[in-house]
Amino acid sequence: MIKIVHMNVNGTDVELGVDECESLTDTLRNRLGLTSVKKGCEAGECGACTILLDGKSVNSCIYLTVWADGHSILTVEGLEHNRGELHPIQQAFVDEAAIQCGFCTPGLVMTGVEIANSGKTYTRDELRELISGHLCRCTGYENILNALEKVLGKK
Ligand code: FES
Ligand code: FES
Repeated sequence: MIKIVHMNVNGTDVELGVDECESLTDTLRNRLGLTSVKKGCEAGECGACTILLDGKSVNSCIYLTVWADGHSILTVEGLEHNRGELHPIQQAFVDEAAIQCGFCTPGLVMTGVEIANSGKTYTRDELRELISGHLCRCTGYENILNALEKVLGKK
């Protein structure tokens, strides 16, 4: 059954008719062209599809679009602001060479943004725990932790 959904996506109000079984990943990628949202496991296991929903990280592959009615969504595309400058989390990933194939990167960046928005600082072990929902096949995680620690670590 098709339902009308109203969401704010990256600062823009959208109205869409969606199948009530459609995942938020599919809506964001296929209907709105937001291909930073990756399809990995599609089972809530890898974190590649992570977006922020009202500021909280969500695995969009196991979140139905109809549940997002009335909510705000942020993806990596929505971080492109401030005269084209990268978000500090994105810049840290570049500076610390925390990206190889890049498939896990958008999800990790969005979790990093969520952590940054908490306004707190964290130890490396706490950061390791906070990103434990993300799988990366390439980096061994150390450069990712270096990047996050650079922005979010205890001074
Ligand atoms: S694609 Fe959503 S958690 Fe893996
Ligand atoms: S950089 Fe390839 S999966 Fe993380």
